[in-house]
Amino acid sequence: MKTKIQQLLEEVNSLKASTLEEAEALRIKYLSKKGEITNLFNDFRNVPNEEKREVGQLLNELKNNAQEKLNTLKEVLTASGKTEQKTDLTRTAEPLKLGTRHPLSLVKQEIADIFSRIGFTIAEGPEIENDWNVFGALNFPPEHPARDMQDTFFIEKNPDILLRTHTSSVQTHVMSSQKPPIRMIFPGRVYRNEAISYRAHCFFHQVEGLYIDKNVSFADLKQALLYFAKEMFGPDTKIRLRPSYFPFTEPSAEMDISCNLCGGEGCAFCKHTGWVEILGCGMVDPNVLDNCGIDSKFYSGYAFGMGVERITNLKYQVKDLRLFSENDVRFLEEFTNAF
Ligand code: PHE
Repeated sequence: MKTKIQQLLEEVNSLKASTLEEAEALRIKYLSKKGEITNLFNDFRNVPNEEKREVGQLLNELKNNAQEKLNTLKEVLTASGKTEQKTDLTRTAEPLKLGTRHPLSLVKQEIADIFSRIGFTIAEGPEIENDWNVFGALNFPPEHPARDMQDTFFIEKNPDILLRTHTSSVQTHVMSSQKPPIRMIFPGRVYRNEAISYRAHCFFHQVEGLYIDKNVSFADLKQALLYFAKEMFGPDTKIRLRPSYFPFTEPSAEMDISCNLCGGEGCAFCKHTGWVEILGCGMVDPNVLDNCGIDSKFYSGYAFGMGVERITNLKYQVKDLRLFSENDVRFLEEFTNAF
């Protein structure tokens, strides 16, 4: 038995294989259930007791050597297989994947394009604001709930520094620094202290519109919004204005468009009403004009504000708001050919 082990030890130490298949055949020859080394283990019980210790050690050494040797052979063969592939210069290169623009950027751009066709220019304002620009100048009474910590993210209290809750704050900046006529839109990100779910997020995007001049009327507002709705959602789109309330506009309204999924007939999406709400609007409150240094005796104006996510949802039926900020490429890739 000892000589047999010695002989196998020598054999095993000089094993060679040039393919993975050959290495596997060797493993079967020595280490499988009926392999030569396994057989020796089966014969072990016939070894006289006084030799068991020595033979046992030799046997274990043989088995370990064989396993190690075969593992190394396999590793070397696998690695050399890989290097071969790496250096295959005849392989065609993989084309670089092109990125896509974010759906919210696409829709924001489309909104801007539509309004620029009727004379609106673009401005932006800061996201970190003071109380005056976001609330005070816009006629929010001191006790208004939007000024509460529950609705607004405050960075500092007294004096208040906060994240803007709407892009109407850009109205304050523009009206305080420019003379009418003003005809502008203000796209940007806004923040509200909301629990995140499929239908609410703590940040989203708005596009604000502002037109100040002599003799601006509610009819002008309605005309501009009708033009926008038809350009954005198709020529058959109808609009409807419902009375509403905002501190900075008087009168105020909310605008619905005829449901672009069922054409106004009623479906689950529009809750069987045929209409879906898309924006808030109204005539700029004279107090706001005066707060910003524009004489309300001579000038009037309108303002509107819409959510970019909302418009995107209506166009593309995105059911979960969170998708917009998760950056899942599978979602983003759906918009490759959107425009
Ligand atoms: N700022 C309002 C909002 O965030 C929208 C709005 C803008 C309403 C301008 C009227 C005029 O809900």
